[in-house]
Amino acid sequence: MSLIVPLPSQRALFELPDHVSYLDAAAWTPVPRPVREAGEAGLLIKRQPWAHPREDVPTQAERARRAAAALIGAAADDIAIVGSVSHAIATAAGAIAPLPGGRILRVADEFPSQCFAWDRMAARHGMSVDIVPRPADGDWTAALHEAIARPGAPPLAVAALTPLHWSDGAPIDLDALAPAIRATGAALVVDATQAVGAAPVDVGRLQPDFLAFPTYKWVLGPYSLAFLYAAPHRRDGPPLEENSGNRPPASGARRYDRGECNDPVGLPMAAAGMELIAAWGLPAIAARLAALTDRLAEGLAAMDLPVAPRARRVPHILGLRLPGGLPPGAIDRLRARDVFVSDRLGVLRISPHVWTDERDVDACLAGIRAVLRGG
Ligand SMILES: Cc1ncc(COP(=O)(O)O)c(C=O)c1O
Repeated sequence: MSLIVPLPSQRALFELPDHVSYLDAAAWTPVPRPVREAGEAGLLIKRQPWAHPREDVPTQAERARRAAAALIGAAADDIAIVGSVSHAIATAAGAIAPLPGGRILRVADEFPSQCFAWDRMAARHGMSVDIVPRPADGDWTAALHEAIARPGAPPLAVAALTPLHWSDGAPIDLDALAPAIRATGAALVVDATQAVGAAPVDVGRLQPDFLAFPTYKWVLGPYSLAFLYAAPHRRDGPPLEENSGNRPPASGARRYDRGECNDPVGLPMAAAGMELIAAWGLPAIAARLAALTDRLAEGLAAMDLPVAPRARRVPHILGLRLPGGLPPGAIDRLRARDVFVSDRLGVLRISPHVWTDERDVDACLAGIRAVLRGG
């Protein structure tokens, strides 16, 4: 039995004033000091390029690639450096042969970056997009299982999925679904934006064809950078940005690397963030966040607000779906109290990360009581 060493709050590493309760990690995260310092050091390199050997910069790309790989159980060779999740998904769509008459599966209200490239493929090649509606009981995994095996449905070509719904943190058990998807011969393309850095993701177990995540959210890094895992049999598609860096002798998933890959600012920031996540360890992060969201759930339930049971929410995102929707101005009124959360598709989305402590949770609960319950 492996023992999880409790992870204390990492607030001291962040430049968060005491009065700020920032529970919006699923939107974008503050960078911890080591990540800021890595970015500042990179900026100084660009300020005086003559003082820094150009040959040192590609080592940063490989460091970032290794750090990204380590978080998802992959090897550096499996990882391409791209500019965004939409870049990654468009790359995946370009590498997967369309299946005229086939279908592309996804969940309702999926994040647009995981939709548009597939909609285009469907429109161009006579395919259908099979959108699974949100199940009343919140069990996406069962709803997707049914959709995969639906009698009479067109053959499954692509399952374009995520490990949880981005709007409310409802879990989707991809490990359970992947064998059924593979058995149909369909490709599995995963947008793991809202998981990597906060939840275990293992490409060895999942065996996706492609899996993508950006650096500006849960892995505490910069904007304009994302990573794309490409399975060994999926490395012969066209890169989105043709450039000398992704031509032979570039090996493995480097085939899909972006142009201007050797960014001396973004890459060290990304590597520093992901190395911190790896050092804390995902089981410890997940356990810490589960304790915080459980505390939130208990507080909300005590106000008679509808909270999904533990099995229907991930440890790092809690979505409050009110029967009448979110009252107008609720997010702004919480912000006025220095409580930062999001409205996503009418759901109040609360997403703590390693800087969050019990005080933040209690401030959030007090804010919600004042804003929704007038108390
Ligand atoms: C589920 C999900 N995917 C992707 C993204 C980001 O996509 P992109 O990198 O294309 O801007 C987000 C951002 O909120 C997201 O929530």
